Amino acid sequence: MTAQMDRAASIDIASLIQHDRIHGSLYTDPAIFDLEMTALFENAWVFVGHDSEIPEKGDYLTRRIGRQPVIVARGKDEVVRVLLNRCTHRANMLCRADSGNAALFRCPYHGWTYANDGRLQGVPFREGYDQEMAEMRSELGMAQAHQVEIYGGFIFANLYGNAGSFDDYIGRAKGPIDRLLSLSPEGRIELRGGWMKHKSAANWKIVNESQVDGYHPLFTHESVYKAIMPAKVDYASDELLVATRDLGGGHNEVDYSREYQAQDDEFIWFKRTPREKMAKYVAAMEAAVGAEETHKRFVDGPPHTFIWPNLFLAEMHVIMVEPVAANESIQYTAPIHIAGGEEINARILRNAEGAMGPAGFLIADDGEMGERNQAGLAAKQPEWALLSRGFSSEVQEDKGLTSYDRTSETTQRAMWVHYKELMAGDQA
Ligand code: FES
Ligand SMILES: [Fe+2]
Repeated sequence: MTAQMDRAASIDIASLIQHDRIHGSLYTDPAIFDLEMTALFENAWVFVGHDSEIPEKGDYLTRRIGRQPVIVARGKDEVVRVLLNRCTHRANMLCRADSGNAALFRCPYHGWTYANDGRLQGVPFREGYDQEMAEMRSELGMAQAHQVEIYGGFIFANLYGNAGSFDDYIGRAKGPIDRLLSLSPEGRIELRGGWMKHKSAANWKIVNESQVDGYHPLFTHESVYKAIMPAKVDYASDELLVATRDLGGGHNEVDYSREYQAQDDEFIWFKRTPREKMAKYVAAMEAAVGAEETHKRFVDGPPHTFIWPNLFLAEMHVIMVEPVAANESIQYTAPIHIAGGEEINARILRNAEGAMGPAGFLIADDGEMGERNQAGLAAKQPEWALLSRGFSSEVQEDKGLTSYDRTSETTQRAMWVHYKELMAGDQA
């Protein structure tokens, strides 16, 4: 046991998470980060990619689950597997590309080859081993995640198969995924615009917390609102029917649909783009689900929902957070393509460039806040970060624990309640 693990074992996690405050060390302590990678990623369900990223046999992408490198690969049998990115000979990393297509993964060290379903295929100078090839093949294939499930194209994996059923894990988060898919006349979305990667000197939980924070936009994004105010709902108003919601299981959301329904206007969430500018898309939707249902879906818009522990359905983007260290994370951002919606897709891409790209006006602001958040935590007093906003305004509804104060910290509390269950277990 390392000294760090020793220390981790002695940390009383439960005492660091109160219902209305979080101890600062949870964002800064490397020993706690180690525990998180094990408890929240490697022994849990996590998002690893979207099936539209690997549509063809042999397509693959590389990701990490916690700190373990994996290859998400579609085999020649079409099955999506999550393979550990490690040669079974002497542990060389097999694949270093972000994505690609390969029938075989060949280890660069001694040339062992593996099929794209992980089976060991070839061993150079095999005579040097006493073992029969058939035996080696069956025993020395790449390790793989015990469970892989796909919902709405989103691929989730549980490395060790010990995290309970997928249905229990995904729970109420199915609803927001369905809401997103309902914007497609084909009921599908695709991620084929590639990912932008933003590295930041911030803990992964700080990044997650800000995605669903309804309190900060008017301040952090002041310049954005000044620029686009006429096109958007009035964010400064206290009258908005916006819900912040704990969906259970760490999932949570900021839901604008009631406000949009009250205004009964389409595409408020998409710069109020007029129908006429996306005529083919509108026609395809009406042909698929009828005029009334199309209007309803265009009013309701996409979800703004965080799916525990690393996926954020950011309206017309998908964001994935990769923890690197206690004080470092990478935020992956991809524009969503609506299957059957080429006109809206072209506009989503332009929005992605404006909001999320290198000179984007949205993600750069949030990135700076994340780093300042981490920098502030270097000051050890006060010891606690407050998360009490809106606590007494919460009501239990069918959809989850909801506050109709859009600045309520219900969403962040949702993550911490679940975090405490997973990290503190019996301590909690
Ligand atoms: S480590 Fe891969 S073939 Fe030797
Ligand atoms: Fe923000």
